[in-house]
Amino acid sequence: MYLPQEIIRRKRNNEILTTEEIQWFVRGIYDESVTEGQIGAFAMAVYFKGMTIDERIALTLAMRDSGRILDWSDLNGPIVDKHSTGGVGDVVSLMLGPMVAACGGYVPMISGRGLGHTGGTLDKFESIPGYDPFPNNDNFRRIVKDVGVAIIGQTGDLAPADKRFYGIRDVTATVESIDLITASILSKKLAAGLDALVMDVKVGHGAFMPNYEASKALAQSIVNVANGAGTKTTALLTDMNQVLARSAGNAVEMREAVKYLSGEYRDAAVHEVTMALCAEMLVSAKLAANLEQAHEKLQAVLDNGKALEVFSKMVGALGGPNDFVEKMESYLPQAPLKLTLNAPQAGYIASVKTRDLGLAVVQLGGGRSRADQKVDHAVGLDKIVKPGEYLEKGEPLLEIHVRDQAQYDSVKDAVLSSFSFSEQKPEAIKSVYETVTG
Ligand code: URA
Repeated sequence: MYLPQEIIRRKRNNEILTTEEIQWFVRGIYDESVTEGQIGAFAMAVYFKGMTIDERIALTLAMRDSGRILDWSDLNGPIVDKHSTGGVGDVVSLMLGPMVAACGGYVPMISGRGLGHTGGTLDKFESIPGYDPFPNNDNFRRIVKDVGVAIIGQTGDLAPADKRFYGIRDVTATVESIDLITASILSKKLAAGLDALVMDVKVGHGAFMPNYEASKALAQSIVNVANGAGTKTTALLTDMNQVLARSAGNAVEMREAVKYLSGEYRDAAVHEVTMALCAEMLVSAKLAANLEQAHEKLQAVLDNGKALEVFSKMVGALGGPNDFVEKMESYLPQAPLKLTLNAPQAGYIASVKTRDLGLAVVQLGGGRSRADQKVDHAVGLDKIVKPGEYLEKGEPLLEIHVRDQAQYDSVKDAVLSSFSFSEQKPEAIKSVYETVTG
């Protein structure tokens, strides 16, 4: 038996908590015997004093164990997933799950909704009519087993301690703690029963972390804690100084993802990041001997249509149309107006304020400003130019998909001022910066 105020005091005084103290406190978070005020104070103490790696592992495992842990021992293949810290135009998950499944992995991907200026995989899949991201547990298991991948939403029984803890952190200015972010992300991922995990930690203007060092520190923390908790994990630091895809929104990104899988259109940065993350997953899951072999396998499932076929089967299995891939345009919602915003001057695109473009999508209704809001799947940005590309004055910068002219007018200036121009060609932006291993 412990006293919550003593645990908080010890952390506040920079002492190291025992595993038993952490387990006790986490139990108090989900059985509600510890008050909101105490949880907020605990979070603030951790925010300022930090945690050792052992404390972080104990916190992660205690939060993981607060709910159900999925068991996939009936499957004869590796269980593998990717998690991203969130980006703008980050379409990767939509293709990655099917690509890795087509190479022999099992991918039970539990995805989230948009957060702040970033988009959410779950919202993107909900732009497909009939797609049900909340199947019952038996169906979820059956689809992962039969198709190899199911991309679904978070259910309340996985790491429920994180749900209460995160809600309190959100209103006590304690989200931005690497220790707490690590435990929050990993408790949910480890509850999914993974053999291997690859983290995509974003870097740059549209990233969640404020600078490269902080992104790297988060990547290192997640890799150390996840491996310490027994799940083989690596992290890639990838770029968010531009919108990753050519589109940002929900239906617009779904369209781009299907075009990627079918080979109709593959943006170079999207391809590089998707292949790098998938390859890392195949190697971690021992489905490829090395990255080179992984790239060959992945290219093969893109070229022979297998990845697209897996995507199509998953959509059908989760309630979407069986011919979604063939008749995508007739199923995806279209915005009534697609207005082009033109370059006000000639020049190279020097930089893009990715975060501001993400916020413009939220403002259009493609994301939320309150958790209970519904998302408009049709609106968004498309055909976005990227840094390093040259435009003559009056050439299109991007298309804005809106409900009406007033909506366009409400975001136009912010979107325009997200782009800066230069007479000189800027240095090319790298898509993948580095790999962090344990
Ligand atoms: N995403 C999470 O799931 N948890 C955090 O703490 C931050 C981002």
